Amino acid sequence: MALYCVISPGGSPGATTTALGLALTWPGRVLLAECDPMGRRVLPGFMADQLRGSAGPGLLGLAMAAEAESGAPVPLDDYTVPIVDDDRVRLLHGVRDPRHGCRLESFWRRLAEAAVARDGDVIADLGRVGGRDTPEELLQAAQAVVMVLKPTLPQVDAAAPRLDALKGLLAERGTAGLCLVADGPYGAAEVERVLGVPVLGELPHSPSEARVLSDGARPRVSFKTSLLMRSIGSLGRRLRSAEARVSEAAPAVQRVAL
Ligand SMILES: Nc1ncnc2c1ncn2[C@@H]1O[C@H](COP(=O)(O)OP(=O)(O)O)[C@@H](O)[C@H]1O
Ligand SMILES: [Mg+2]
Repeated sequence: MALYCVISPGGSPGATTTALGLALTWPGRVLLAECDPMGRRVLPGFMADQLRGSAGPGLLGLAMAAEAESGAPVPLDDYTVPIVDDDRVRLLHGVRDPRHGCRLESFWRRLAEAAVARDGDVIADLGRVGGRDTPEELLQAAQAVVMVLKPTLPQVDAAAPRLDALKGLLAERGTAGLCLVADGPYGAAEVERVLGVPVLGELPHSPSEARVLSDGARPRVSFKTSLLMRSIGSLGRRLRSAEARVSEAAPAVQRVAL
């Protein structure tokens, strides 16, 4: 079905937390694929209780299996594990050692093809983009890409050239949007105007709820209905129906002072 990518401009604004929240609130079968070359995060965080058991070889194992069988389809679902009990939401856990990130470079294109061909959507967490290790083939194959950032000057400044590069990568039908983690002085309209990319979601700054997702902290009874989870659910709805493209007329951030 469709591939959705979650990216950040760097500075840990909450991309992985948001990607996991999206997977948990997504309707239907969904796979969260940890494609950040800098390493995995969900297994030792939200799924820490499973770290001692076998989570299988994950992304690196899949890449090695694909390398060994270069003509065969990538056996994506064989390398995933359920994130929650009902098997509907699954995880392809990322590399543990970032030194293995370079082993993935020749694999991204085949992973992108397998993601699009999968029976069920795929949410890929790419982490910080813009470096030479960015999995561009995943961005090229994505139906929609959402950049998570804080509405601060350093984040917006870092986002601008990365969105510019993304503009050149997106396929004809690909869309791009922003998700603001409300921990900064600027409003959505201002960020949207400066970056020329629509804001698809605004998340509250909710450290204790976020820690449930990022660190596996014990959830409060109200976790599922918390503002953070409701906001992530609504981001997912916007993402699935995203029609906004990166504006061709995006002003260069260098010229625009916030
Ligand atoms: N909406 C939020 N509100 C408050 N803290 C958040 C939020 N989202 C993420 N965080 C926190 O920010 C830190 C970094 O999150 P993470 O998702 O790992 O960032 P990234 O993937 O962008 O590096 C974590 O401690 C996480 O709990
Ligand atoms: Mg991350």
